[in-house]
Amino acid sequence: MSDKMNRRAFLGMTAAGAAGVVLGDLLGKAQVALPTNKAAATTTNETLNFYGTHQTGVVTPAQNFANVAAFDVTTSDVKELQALMKQWTEMAATLMAGKPLAVEPQDGAFPPTDTGEQFGLDTGKLTLTFALGATFFEKEGVDRFGLRSRKPAGLTEMPIFHKDSLQEQLTHGDIVVQACADDPIICFHAIRNLTKAARGVAHLRWQQTGQLGVKSQGTKRNLFGFKDGTANPALQDETFMKNNVWIDASDKDSAPWLAGGTYMVVRRIHMRIETWDQQTYSDQEEIIGRQKVSGAPMDGKAEFDTPQFAADAEGKVTALDSHIRLSNPRTGENSERERILRRGYNFMDNLDSVGRINAGLLFVCFNRNIQTQFESIQKRLTNPKMPDQMLAYTDTTGGGYFAVLPGVSSKGSYLGQTLFE
Ligand code: HEM
Repeated sequence: MSDKMNRRAFLGMTAAGAAGVVLGDLLGKAQVALPTNKAAATTTNETLNFYGTHQTGVVTPAQNFANVAAFDVTTSDVKELQALMKQWTEMAATLMAGKPLAVEPQDGAFPPTDTGEQFGLDTGKLTLTFALGATFFEKEGVDRFGLRSRKPAGLTEMPIFHKDSLQEQLTHGDIVVQACADDPIICFHAIRNLTKAARGVAHLRWQQTGQLGVKSQGTKRNLFGFKDGTANPALQDETFMKNNVWIDASDKDSAPWLAGGTYMVVRRIHMRIETWDQQTYSDQEEIIGRQKVSGAPMDGKAEFDTPQFAADAEGKVTALDSHIRLSNPRTGENSERERILRRGYNFMDNLDSVGRINAGLLFVCFNRNIQTQFESIQKRLTNPKMPDQMLAYTDTTGGGYFAVLPGVSSKGSYLGQTLFE
């Protein structure tokens, strides 16, 4: 069925109502009742707009579930790649609107375009965020698509930091898609259908899922039991996002075509849960540098109190090698310039190969310059001379660096257009 036909049928479908649609009349086939996505049809506030200067899923308040998938490009034809980006753009707009990808007769002549497991579910505020890895531009010295000269200087492959145990099958990738929604099926469905559409052009390299406490009040907790996100910038703080998150056309280590995008860092950080659980309450607090229940700094009373490191130069109250003190020593302008936007998720998988709980943090952060922001922080945390105390309880096994494409401003434009054209 042509795209045109899909869209026409699909428009008819939206008009037909919320509970279910009879397609037979539209398509001249046997009548088929297909459920629509309830939230899309009734509650618009559950649906986030795909179009805009920036992509969604960066400053969007974190939904409860995430599915981050990396693809390796298999074609050597840039035109096929461009066509995939165009197709993914249309699909992303449709998926985020909570609409089926296509409406087709169920006459058994071909596999359904839309796999269908989301029919009848809420949209779950789905966001889809598309990004490119360094190998998209150049792999093993080869200028794969004639785009090498357009690679942003700051986009490298993620290096191996002190104590990293990166596994090839969980690391890097040419393209990354982050799907976030309040229902894990919605995330899975989006990634699955994007993967299906990419057949012959790109294939899945890895896929990692994460979740947050669904109904928790206030700041959500990670699997060490601490509030995670307290010192994050406010999502409405546009000045912060302009200074520290969104790439500007004039950014020296970036590329003009990436203006409006950002850099995404993914780190799959396994937590040594069994060992952590043997640490005393006060040791756990010392390691993080915050009080466990309230989330307050060691020298404060309430979660959002500002720690006064200058008054504690020797680290008697907040250890010098505690996680928060090393990651943000609060030394003024320099610390402010380094700040990143964290947007991670907990992961809980089965046991690992030696019988340990395979759980941790799918750390995701966004920043305008990887080297002066994320890496600068990360290098302090992993400095062998005085590493983050937390490093003894974590193993990083995967992830990568990716350049998040600028937003698609309007219908007719597509993901990566400024790069390809
Ligand atoms: C398993 C790994 C990690 C865990 C469990 C963890 C946990 C935490 C917790 C509990 C806090 C305090 C609450 C808050 O402000 O959010 C925090 C803060 C922070 N973390 Fe992590 N984190 C991890 C990895 C990382 C990594 C890899 C980085 C970056 C390189 C990082 C950067 C930060 C920053 C910048 C802050 C805010 C510090 C501040 O401004 O006070 N974290 N983290």
